[in-house]
Amino acid sequence: MEHNAQQAQKEKIMEENVQPSKRPSSRRSFLRKGLVAGGAGTIGAALLANGLALPAFAEERDRDKERSDDLTSGDVAILRFAAAIEILETDLWQQYNELGGIQDSEVPGGSGSAPYINGLLQLDGDMSQYIHDNTEDEISHFTFLNAYLASKGANPVDLDKFRTLKGSQATGAQDKKRLTNLMQLTVDTSWWTRYRSRTQNPDFGDTFPPAIPGLLKGQFPAIPRSNADLAPANHIQAIANTAGFHFGFIEQGGSSLYPTLAQGATNLEVLRILLSIGPVETSHFQTWHDKAGNAPALTDPTNGLVFPDLNAAPFGGEDFQTNLIMPEPTIFLSRSLPAVSIIRPTQIAGSGGAVATVKAWTADGLFIGQSPEFFTVLQQLAEQADAARRGF
Ligand SMILES: [Fe+2]
Repeated sequence: MEHNAQQAQKEKIMEENVQPSKRPSSRRSFLRKGLVAGGAGTIGAALLANGLALPAFAEERDRDKERSDDLTSGDVAILRFAAAIEILETDLWQQYNELGGIQDSEVPGGSGSAPYINGLLQLDGDMSQYIHDNTEDEISHFTFLNAYLASKGANPVDLDKFRTLKGSQATGAQDKKRLTNLMQLTVDTSWWTRYRSRTQNPDFGDTFPPAIPGLLKGQFPAIPRSNADLAPANHIQAIANTAGFHFGFIEQGGSSLYPTLAQGATNLEVLRILLSIGPVETSHFQTWHDKAGNAPALTDPTNGLVFPDLNAAPFGGEDFQTNLIMPEPTIFLSRSLPAVSIIRPTQIAGSGGAVATVKAWTADGLFIGQSPEFFTVLQQLAEQADAARRGF
């Protein structure tokens, strides 16, 4: 009985939150018939002096229109999962911006924490500006995706009811409920060595060692939890360092997610959206990859977390060298093809898929404290996005 009740509740949640729009196939065939019927009468007047036929343009325009009006349920599922991810990214980036970024009309909220900002500035003098701009980009991503979904008659994504987590109590942070938790992170920094490998690719099942092994061995704050975290100096610096590597973790995920999702898109306009947003995630990743390498080597005296010198033994070399921030060419598609510089992973339904993203972010500790319903909704959005296949 209890199982049935849970199942019913789960189905209700899915119905409310994961409702793809119907494919308007009748509209497609109507447009096609209309083109055939209307085309003949205009052909006679079609030729211009330069020899281009007007109906060809008209037909192309109509075809574009047809494409944009014709989203498959898979397209909708992809866009809805992307919107959910962007909402979650916005929530976490806003927390970073309140304490470490620039608070203005573009990214309002918070008033900054001088000791935390000072820690971030050790990674780059422009960290606050970059944090602000990354936050603004994520706001624009989810706002656009939701507006686009609505314009196509599909349900936008709303996660507001899951804003239940207590945020930082440090001076500078807003006292409001959050979707994500930045205070108990277990940051996977294997992206560092994955993008430096010349011979391996996660899409071939390869795994990679972390740059900062200590970040995988416990739960660490990436923002000050309260003013008690603002000292001693190496503690708040370790928090800023953790943030620096977490930025890279988040944005490399987006860099893989968009090309992976894009392979399941059918509608060309949806494909264009995915191909236009995805590389912005990669531009974020590239920036953070560079800045993380400047994180000062230290040991946090409060918890023993070590940030090693990545340019010295036992680190160093091409796998760890901090200025080696551009993706090394590696194997792609087949080991018999030449190595190529690529985003990895990108295998559809593989390690870079929607469900894998939820799994990675959950393991990261981002959702510690969230409700079972939150995980159900996010998992369903991910499964539907991963089920999308081109042409269906
Ligand atoms: Fe984004």
